[in-house]
Amino acid sequence: MSDHNSENNKEQVQVFDDEKKILLDHDYDGIRELDHPLPKWWLFTFYLTIIFSVPYYLAHTFGGADSIQKEFKEEVLAAQNSQKEYDDEKGKFNLEEYQKVIAGPKFEKIAKKTYKRKCKACHGKDGGGGVGPNLADNFWLHGDGSLETVYNTINKGVVDKGMAAWGAKLGKEKVYAVLKYVADFKGTTPSNPKEPQGKEYK
Ligand code: HEC
Repeated sequence: MSDHNSENNKEQVQVFDDEKKILLDHDYDGIRELDHPLPKWWLFTFYLTIIFSVPYYLAHTFGGADSIQKEFKEEVLAAQNSQKEYDDEKGKFNLEEYQKVIAGPKFEKIAKKTYKRKCKACHGKDGGGGVGPNLADNFWLHGDGSLETVYNTINKGVVDKGMAAWGAKLGKEKVYAVLKYVADFKGTTPSNPKEPQGKEYK
Protein backbone atom coordinates (compact mmCIF):
# COMPACT_ATOMS: atom_id res chain seq x y z
CA MET A 1 0.00 0.00 0.00
CA SER A 2 2.67 2.44 1.01
CA ASP A 3 4.71 1.47 -2.03
CA HIS A 4 1.84 2.34 -4.16
CA ASN A 5 1.53 5.76 -2.50
CA SER A 6 5.12 6.69 -2.94
CA GLU A 7 5.02 5.63 -6.53
CA ASN A 8 2.19 8.05 -6.98
CA ASN A 9 4.11 10.82 -5.25
CA LYS A 10 7.19 10.27 -7.30
CA GLU A 11 5.23 11.07 -10.35
CA GLN A 12 3.92 14.27 -8.77
CA VAL A 13 7.33 15.62 -7.69
CA GLN A 14 8.25 18.75 -9.61
CA VAL A 15 11.90 19.26 -10.33
CA PHE A 16 13.41 22.17 -12.18
CA ASP A 17 15.78 21.24 -14.95
CA ASP A 18 18.87 22.60 -13.29
CA GLU A 19 18.04 20.64 -10.15
CA LYS A 20 17.81 17.24 -11.74
CA LYS A 21 21.53 16.63 -11.34
CA ILE A 22 21.38 17.13 -7.59
CA LEU A 23 18.10 15.34 -6.89
CA LEU A 24 18.75 12.38 -4.59
CA ASP A 25 17.26 9.01 -5.32
CA HIS A 26 15.68 8.53 -1.96
CA ASP A 27 12.00 9.14 -1.49
CA TYR A 28 10.85 9.88 2.08
CA ASP A 29 7.15 9.22 1.80
CA GLY A 30 6.97 11.49 -1.12
CA ILE A 31 9.47 14.02 0.12
CA ARG A 32 12.54 14.34 -2.09
CA GLU A 33 15.85 16.00 -1.34
CA LEU A 34 18.28 18.06 -3.32
CA ASP A 35 21.94 17.44 -2.61
CA HIS A 36 23.27 20.92 -1.84
CA PRO A 37 26.92 20.78 -0.80
CA LEU A 38 27.81 22.59 2.43
CA PRO A 39 29.60 25.92 2.00
CA LYS A 40 33.37 25.59 1.78
CA TRP A 41 34.05 27.94 4.67
CA TRP A 42 31.73 25.89 6.87
CA LEU A 43 33.42 22.61 5.96
CA PHE A 44 36.82 24.16 6.42
CA THR A 45 35.94 25.32 9.94
CA PHE A 46 34.46 21.93 10.72
CA TYR A 47 37.63 20.10 9.60
CA LEU A 48 39.71 22.53 11.64
CA THR A 49 37.77 21.63 14.79
CA ILE A 50 38.39 17.95 14.09
CA ILE A 51 42.11 18.54 13.63
CA PHE A 52 42.18 20.66 16.77
CA SER A 53 40.42 17.97 18.80
CA VAL A 54 43.21 15.41 18.34
CA PRO A 55 46.06 17.19 20.21
CA TYR A 56 43.48 18.63 22.62
CA TYR A 57 42.21 15.16 23.48
CA LEU A 58 45.72 13.75 23.81
CA ALA A 59 46.94 16.65 25.94
CA HIS A 60 44.03 16.46 28.34
CA THR A 61 43.72 12.69 28.52
CA PHE A 62 47.37 11.63 28.59
CA GLY A 63 49.43 14.82 28.64
CA GLY A 64 48.37 16.14 32.05
CA ALA A 65 47.14 19.49 30.72
CA ASP A 66 45.27 21.60 33.28
CA SER A 67 41.59 20.87 33.54
CA ILE A 68 39.07 23.68 33.20
CA GLN A 69 38.31 23.29 36.91
CA LYS A 70 41.97 23.73 37.80
CA GLU A 71 42.37 26.75 35.55
CA PHE A 72 39.24 28.25 37.07
CA LYS A 73 40.50 27.70 40.63
CA GLU A 74 43.83 29.29 39.80
CA GLU A 75 42.18 32.30 38.24
CA VAL A 76 39.88 32.77 41.23
CA LEU A 77 42.86 32.49 43.56
CA ALA A 78 44.83 35.03 41.54
CA ALA A 79 41.86 37.40 41.59
CA GLN A 80 41.49 36.99 45.35
CA ASN A 81 45.15 37.68 45.87
CA SER A 82 45.10 40.82 43.77
CA GLN A 83 41.94 41.95 45.58
CA LYS A 84 43.74 41.42 48.89
CA GLU A 85 46.76 43.35 47.68
CA TYR A 86 44.46 46.13 46.58
CA ASP A 87 42.66 46.14 49.91
CA ASP A 88 45.92 46.14 51.83
CA GLU A 89 47.55 48.88 49.81
CA LYS A 90 45.00 51.22 48.37
CA GLY A 91 42.26 50.33 50.82
CA LYS A 92 44.15 51.60 53.84
CA PHE A 93 42.96 54.63 55.75
CA ASN A 94 45.16 57.59 54.94
CA LEU A 95 44.80 60.59 57.24
CA GLU A 96 46.23 63.04 54.73
CA GLU A 97 43.87 61.96 51.96
CA TYR A 98 40.98 62.07 54.42
CA GLN A 99 41.79 65.60 55.53
CA LYS A 100 42.12 66.71 51.94
CA VAL A 101 38.69 65.35 51.09
CA ILE A 102 36.93 66.89 54.08
CA ALA A 103 38.58 70.24 53.38
CA GLY A 104 37.39 70.15 49.78
CA PRO A 105 34.67 72.51 48.56
CA LYS A 106 32.22 69.78 47.64
CA PHE A 107 32.71 67.73 50.77
CA GLU A 108 29.54 68.68 52.63
CA LYS A 109 27.28 68.07 49.67
CA ILE A 110 28.87 64.73 48.86
CA ALA A 111 28.76 63.56 52.49
CA LYS A 112 25.14 64.51 52.99
CA LYS A 113 23.98 63.04 49.72
CA THR A 114 25.90 59.80 50.15
CA TYR A 115 24.69 59.25 53.70
CA LYS A 116 21.11 60.00 52.76
CA ARG A 117 21.13 57.69 49.76
CA LYS A 118 23.29 54.83 50.96
CA CYS A 119 23.26 54.69 54.77
CA LYS A 120 20.17 56.39 56.16
CA ALA A 121 17.85 53.47 55.45
CA CYS A 122 19.69 51.24 57.92
CA HIS A 123 21.38 53.69 60.29
CA GLY A 124 18.70 56.37 60.62
CA LYS A 125 18.76 59.95 59.38
CA ASP A 126 20.65 61.17 62.44
CA GLY A 127 22.69 58.01 63.02
CA GLY A 128 20.37 56.59 65.67
CA GLY A 129 20.36 53.16 64.04
CA GLY A 130 17.65 50.80 62.81
CA VAL A 131 18.55 47.70 60.87
CA GLY A 132 22.14 48.76 61.48
CA PRO A 133 23.65 49.87 64.78
CA ASN A 134 23.54 53.30 66.38
CA LEU A 135 26.48 55.32 65.05
CA ALA A 136 26.16 58.20 67.53
CA ASP A 137 26.92 56.33 70.74
CA ASN A 138 30.27 55.15 72.09
CA PHE A 139 29.55 51.47 71.50
CA TRP A 140 31.14 49.72 68.56
CA LEU A 141 30.78 46.18 67.22
CA HIS A 142 33.75 46.57 64.91
CA GLY A 143 36.85 48.39 65.99
CA ASP A 144 36.94 51.14 68.60
CA GLY A 145 35.21 54.05 66.92
CA SER A 146 38.47 55.57 65.70
CA LEU A 147 38.49 57.05 62.21
CA GLU A 148 40.66 54.21 61.03
CA THR A 149 38.51 51.34 62.29
CA VAL A 150 35.23 52.98 61.26
CA TYR A 151 36.78 53.57 57.86
CA ASN A 152 37.66 49.89 57.61
CA THR A 153 34.12 48.84 58.48
CA ILE A 154 32.60 51.17 55.88
CA ASN A 155 35.20 50.24 53.29
CA LYS A 156 34.99 46.47 53.63
CA GLY A 157 31.50 46.18 55.12
CA VAL A 158 30.17 43.34 57.23
CA VAL A 159 28.86 41.48 54.27
CA ASP A 160 27.38 38.48 56.08
CA LYS A 161 25.33 40.83 58.29
CA GLY A 162 23.94 42.81 55.39
CA MET A 163 26.33 45.77 55.52
CA ALA A 164 27.83 46.17 52.06
CA ALA A 165 31.50 46.80 51.29
CA TRP A 166 31.04 50.45 50.39
CA GLY A 167 34.63 51.03 49.29
CA ALA A 168 34.08 49.17 46.04
CA LYS A 169 30.73 50.84 45.42
CA LEU A 170 31.44 54.43 46.34
CA GLY A 171 35.14 54.94 45.85
CA LYS A 172 37.52 56.46 48.34
CA GLU A 173 36.40 60.07 48.18
CA LYS A 174 32.80 59.32 49.05
CA VAL A 175 33.85 56.86 51.76
CA TYR A 176 36.01 59.55 53.37
CA ALA A 177 33.20 62.06 53.10
CA VAL A 178 30.64 59.74 54.65
CA LEU A 179 33.18 58.71 57.29
CA LYS A 180 33.38 62.32 58.44
CA TYR A 181 29.60 62.49 58.38
CA VAL A 182 29.43 59.42 60.64
CA ALA A 183 32.23 60.73 62.90
CA ASP A 184 30.20 63.90 63.43
CA PHE A 185 27.34 61.90 64.96
CA LYS A 186 29.49 61.32 68.00
CA GLY A 187 28.19 63.25 70.97
CA THR A 188 24.87 64.11 69.31
CA THR A 189 21.55 62.78 70.54
CA PRO A 190 19.57 61.00 67.80
CA SER A 191 15.80 61.35 67.94
CA ASN A 192 15.22 57.62 68.12
CA PRO A 193 18.40 55.93 69.32
CA LYS A 194 18.85 52.18 69.09
CA GLU A 195 20.13 50.41 72.21
CA PRO A 196 23.93 50.15 72.42
CA GLN A 197 25.61 47.23 70.68
CA GLY A 198 29.15 45.99 71.09
CA LYS A 199 31.81 47.33 73.42
CA GLU A 200 32.04 50.79 74.87
CA TYR A 201 35.02 52.99 73.94
CA LYS A 202 35.40 56.46 75.36
C1 HEC B 1 21.25 47.35 54.40
C2 HEC B 1 21.51 47.99 55.65
C3 HEC B 1 22.75 48.83 55.80
C4 HEC B 1 23.16 49.90 55.03
C5 HEC B 1 22.46 50.46 53.80
C6 HEC B 1 24.35 50.40 55.65
N1 HEC B 1 24.66 49.67 56.75
FE1 HEC B 1 26.17 50.04 58.03
N2 HEC B 1 25.67 48.36 59.08
C7 HEC B 1 24.58 47.57 58.85
C8 HEC B 1 24.56 46.49 59.82
C9 HEC B 1 23.50 45.39 59.88
C10 HEC B 1 25.69 46.65 60.63
C11 HEC B 1 26.10 45.79 61.82
C12 HEC B 1 26.91 44.60 61.36
C13 HEC B 1 27.11 43.65 62.50
O1 HEC B 1 26.13 43.31 63.19
O2 HEC B 1 28.25 43.24 62.68
C14 HEC B 1 26.35 47.86 60.15
C15 HEC B 1 27.51 48.38 60.71
C16 HEC B 1 28.05 49.60 60.40
C17 HEC B 1 29.16 50.21 61.09
C18 HEC B 1 29.90 49.63 62.28
C19 HEC B 1 29.15 49.90 63.54
C20 HEC B 1 29.78 49.26 64.75
O3 HEC B 1 29.12 49.23 65.78
O4 HEC B 1 30.92 48.82 64.68
C21 HEC B 1 29.41 51.41 60.47
C22 HEC B 1 30.46 52.42 60.85
C23 HEC B 1 28.48 51.52 59.38
N3 HEC B 1 27.67 50.41 59.36
C24 HEC B 1 28.41 52.59 58.50
C25 HEC B 1 27.62 52.62 57.37
C26 HEC B 1 27.72 53.63 56.34
C27 HEC B 1 28.64 54.82 56.37
C28 HEC B 1 26.80 53.31 55.39
C29 HEC B 1 26.52 54.01 54.07
C30 HEC B 1 27.62 54.17 53.17
C31 HEC B 1 26.11 52.10 55.84
N4 HEC B 1 26.65 51.70 57.03
C32 HEC B 1 25.07 51.48 55.15
C33 HEC B 1 23.63 47.76 57.88
C34 HEC B 1 23.69 48.70 56.87
